[in-house]
Amino acid sequence: MKKTIVHILKDEPKGQELTVKGWVKSFRANRFIALNDGSTINNLQCVVDFENTDPALLKRITVGAAIAVTGSLVASQGGGQAVEVDVKEVKILGDADPEEVKRTILQPKRHTLEKLREQAHLRVRTNTFGAVMRLRSQLSFAVHQYFQKEGFYYVNTPIITGSDAEGAGEMFKVTAQDLKNPAKDKDGNIDYKKDFFGKETNLTVSGQLEAETYALGLGQVYTFGPTFRAENSNTSRHLAEFWMIEPEVAFNDLDANMDLAEDFIKYVIQYVMDNGQDDLEFLENRLIQEDKAKPEAERAPMPLREKLKFVLENNFKRVSYTEAIDILKNSKPNKKKKFNYIIEEWGADLQSEHERFLVEKHFKCPVILFDYPANIKAFYMRLNEDGKTVRAMDILFPGIGEIVGGSQREERLEVLQEKMAALDIPEEELWWYLDTRRFGTCVHSGFGLGFERLVLFATGMTNIRDVIPYPRFPQNAEF
Ligand code: 4AD
Ligand code: MG
Repeated sequence: MKKTIVHILKDEPKGQELTVKGWVKSFRANRFIALNDGSTINNLQCVVDFENTDPALLKRITVGAAIAVTGSLVASQGGGQAVEVDVKEVKILGDADPEEVKRTILQPKRHTLEKLREQAHLRVRTNTFGAVMRLRSQLSFAVHQYFQKEGFYYVNTPIITGSDAEGAGEMFKVTAQDLKNPAKDKDGNIDYKKDFFGKETNLTVSGQLEAETYALGLGQVYTFGPTFRAENSNTSRHLAEFWMIEPEVAFNDLDANMDLAEDFIKYVIQYVMDNGQDDLEFLENRLIQEDKAKPEAERAPMPLREKLKFVLENNFKRVSYTEAIDILKNSKPNKKKKFNYIIEEWGADLQSEHERFLVEKHFKCPVILFDYPANIKAFYMRLNEDGKTVRAMDILFPGIGEIVGGSQREERLEVLQEKMAALDIPEEELWWYLDTRRFGTCVHSGFGLGFERLVLFATGMTNIRDVIPYPRFPQNAEF
């Protein structure tokens, strides 16, 4: 196995020969190459003997170029790093013309995140995006590790589906049409119903309904896959394509569901605290620098790693929707911009400013809200004895708002049928789902965690478009 820089930097400097390939981050005084291969935020310093190197070659060691460096690993002369490479040979693998580099974000200067977004294909070579994407990868791994160690089975639910799991009508249609020669109805209109070999289909908004059927066979399952929402939301928290993790557990009630969600989130955050220290430290310092330019009120209340530690060390506060409404009603509107309209009436869906008020101002910790009014939640949630609330739970995080949505599911066939009828959801479409309530139905629960919202929280980034390699949002599909 070849060694990457992350491993080389941990090596003992014993003069051992090595060849390292990577991209030039900087080249100072015709002597010091800062080399990065993507394996870590840290660069490997490579010291060139410029007096004995062809000047034409030196000129090609430019920012962004791919090179191979051969030399010996020695103790570093300067401070900052323990080891460096005493270079014997440099090979240019791929040039990067400095004039051309000037029109890109590879040019070494501070670029705005908006600017970086326009060059999503190059932004991963910046320190910030390298750090975010490595942490994203570690979080994915931790997700699988958590569920596998807890005895869950990973299921892959369909991407193309005929159902609308959330009943919110936010689906992207799938077309199997020959677009140059589409099937038309008698009036000459394109017949979208014929799309998927004669059936109307869409990209999945959630794998939950299928995951439920699997939980009622395998006991404990989870999905981790792409989901799609055709909501025209131009916010820093919404994507049209995002990754969702959806565990589903037979015989779990809502309390057990909350316990699972809290334990799971804490586990994955602990994992990046343990394994992503260098990247977290880099991002934390970046935020501290950024905050210096901001007015006091807009600065982060605590440094990134302290914020993560806070989540690990505190219980999430569990509050019913009804209690939350009382809190909001008894809070005075805050005219200082952020929390303007905090008064709400029972029955209303909470806006993000209400959620943020509860989390950031009132409780000052992550909050699990439960027992929401039935009419603002999806059809599959279990109706409470009061006949007007359902066993729903949302987990709200500081700076993020809703990070998890879940519920105990309606396991009673007749109640579910009544609910579907009231919402005009045809039984023919979900006959297979209803079957699970006919044969060995049982209490079961699950939730969905928006993976990008978790990455946002863990990295301290503020726009969801900056935590997924190629964000999909309205008016954007360039890449
Ligand atoms: O609250 P949601 O819509 O719940 C469901 O889809 C359930 N079927 C989940 C379940 O019980 N198995 O979505 C769940 C989470 C949200 O809390 C949020 O974190 C994320 O998915 N989410 C989005 N993330 C990014 N962009 C969007 N447009 C999102 N919509 C939801
Ligand atoms: Mg939700």
